[in-house]
Amino acid sequence: MSTYTLDTSTSRANPTPAPMRRLTVPSLKGMKGGTPIAMLTAYTARMAQLLDPHCDVLLVGDSLGQVIYGLPSTIPVTLEMMCAHGAAVVRGSYHALVAVDMPFGSYEASPQQAFENAARILKETGAAAVKLEGGEAMAETIAFLVARGIPVIGPVGLTPQAVNALGGYRARGRDEAERAKIIADAKAVADAGAFLLVLEGVMEEIADEATRLVACPTIGIGASASCDGQVLVTEDMLGLFERTPRFVKRFDDFATRVGEAAAAYAGAVRARSFPEDAQVYRPAS
Ligand code: KIV
Repeated sequence: MSTYTLDTSTSRANPTPAPMRRLTVPSLKGMKGGTPIAMLTAYTARMAQLLDPHCDVLLVGDSLGQVIYGLPSTIPVTLEMMCAHGAAVVRGSYHALVAVDMPFGSYEASPQQAFENAARILKETGAAAVKLEGGEAMAETIAFLVARGIPVIGPVGLTPQAVNALGGYRARGRDEAERAKIIADAKAVADAGAFLLVLEGVMEEIADEATRLVACPTIGIGASASCDGQVLVTEDMLGLFERTPRFVKRFDDFATRVGEAAAAYAGAVRARSFPEDAQVYRPAS
């Protein structure tokens, strides 16, 4: 595996094996059934730099509402937030395809509204794709965007923007009616031209069936290893939150380490053992 260093002066991972040659929509479509696609969320340039060499897709998820802004759900997230964070993630990466979530209220009214706002996201951020919820109900909109050159990722299952209608964040597909609806949504989204289908919080059997049914790669989050790839919220994966859903595996215990570092810093300040000589400016002698 290649080793990358980070060039913080240009905000790019460096050295680039093929400068600015990002993974593309066709190359990701071609990964169906092959090496699983690794996708993580990113909201800032520095985190994008760190994740980029290891990921195929960086998703600027509207989960930034809760993770960055402390909001109670994704519902209040605005287009301005998504554009600002999307641009930062594009500046901090060169390798992964960057996709940006369309926030609640920015695409549901009509295909035209969706096109205007998706075009704004791509123009202002430099990202290559958008992601929008809605399943079958959004199939016409997805086809409209795809026909006009806007690559779309479609999530189905536990779709957080529908929290008020779903009544919470419990996993989906426990009964036959829910199973049938998720499969119908998956087919509609894929047939409309989505290049990736995200299966979120669904039973393993449904993920397995959907992955066999649709032509595009499926990306699971709480949807088992049956999918063609996986996505997690990076802060969940790093262990920054005490409580995480069952499907999250913590690959680190970052919250503890941040707390320990902050305690060590505060202790050093109070003991006057920081700053030390090495951190003090003095005139050249
Ligand atoms: O907003 C988000 O971060 C997402 C992922 C969890 C898939 O949609």
